[in-house]
Amino acid sequence: MTGRAAYFTVQTRKIAKSGPVLGVETSCDETGVAVFCPERGLVAHTLYSQIRMHADYGGVVPELASRDHVRKLLPLIRETLARAGITTRDLGGVAYTAGPGLVGALLVGAACARALAWALQVPAIGVHHMEGHLLAPLLEADPPQPPFVALLVSGGHSMLIEVSAIGRYRLLGDTLDDAAGEAFDKTAKLMGLPYPGGPALAALAGQGRPGAFRFSRPMTDRPGLDFSFSGLKTQVLLAWQGSDQGEQTRADIARAFEEAIVDTLVIKCRRALEAAGASRLVIAGGVGANRRLRAELAAAGDKDGFRTYFPRLQFCTDNGAMIALAGAIRLAHGQQQDATVQVFPRWDLESLPPAV
Ligand code: KG4
Ligand code: ZN
Repeated sequence: MTGRAAYFTVQTRKIAKSGPVLGVETSCDETGVAVFCPERGLVAHTLYSQIRMHADYGGVVPELASRDHVRKLLPLIRETLARAGITTRDLGGVAYTAGPGLVGALLVGAACARALAWALQVPAIGVHHMEGHLLAPLLEADPPQPPFVALLVSGGHSMLIEVSAIGRYRLLGDTLDDAAGEAFDKTAKLMGLPYPGGPALAALAGQGRPGAFRFSRPMTDRPGLDFSFSGLKTQVLLAWQGSDQGEQTRADIARAFEEAIVDTLVIKCRRALEAAGASRLVIAGGVGANRRLRAELAAAGDKDGFRTYFPRLQFCTDNGAMIALAGAIRLAHGQQQDATVQVFPRWDLESLPPAV
């Protein structure tokens, strides 16, 4: 038997045995590691954020991100396994984010995870980062069952997806320019808030007075489920430049901006649920941590009769737990990657195979 054939025989045996799955997330500026047990659920997770390092530059510097993942990943894996009370020998599989994301950052996680799986002779699976986000609510008690509609709103994406089964995804709507999180970050920056501005802008919005400013709800005046948020940024810039630029004004503008984004997302979610004939809505990705969005969607659900499912706040933004979970599901269906270290900086969610 050649080395390669022997390797795959070992893989198949290991899948049947199953066991805890190590999840590794390194697609952008967070190093996330977790252990998910098919029998016990999530048993440990750790996260290291590079935010402070990138803040000096006003955004993520890809090369610095890759180098920092190199520094942090192995210590985090050791810490996570210790927290889970297991060693590498107990692992039944390794999952890593294979895309979309920054190519160098992705390669750090993929190479490390792939090498670990090879050394342990367990299967490895490359996970789509957005599928990780989409499945994050499955880490909570009372998880959603497909079919459902998912609103994925992060720093890089604003998508509405029809989920008929895990792995069967149909894109209903996408952003034509800035993603929702990107719009938060850019708007925060132009009003002088430090990187990453999204959460800071949302906090400031809480102090804003209702009705002091009003911005449009882009692309809601015509049918369709696509988004466009870059024009909002320009509206904010003009309002900010024409104002006294005081603290209260900044909060007032932040509030009007947040209301415009949230209203737009709520309108499109309602339309998407109607178009898909679904009664369950999953909200995931970093902007899913936004409290106004969570409250407004829950209220719309009460009114229209659909149910909303959110991950807990810490699993809205990037984390290893969602990658471990998504990987465990795919490994349980016998899916795995061969020994090549491969990443996909751009990757179409609809191209994934079903996991049913
Ligand atoms: O999912 P995520 O951690 O990374 C990507 O995959 O992009 O999302 C990060 C994005 C950033 O744009 C950040 O500003 C935004 O999510 N974000 C928020 C909030 N928390 C994070 N935007 C609005 N309100 C928040 N509370
Ligand atoms: Zn993300």
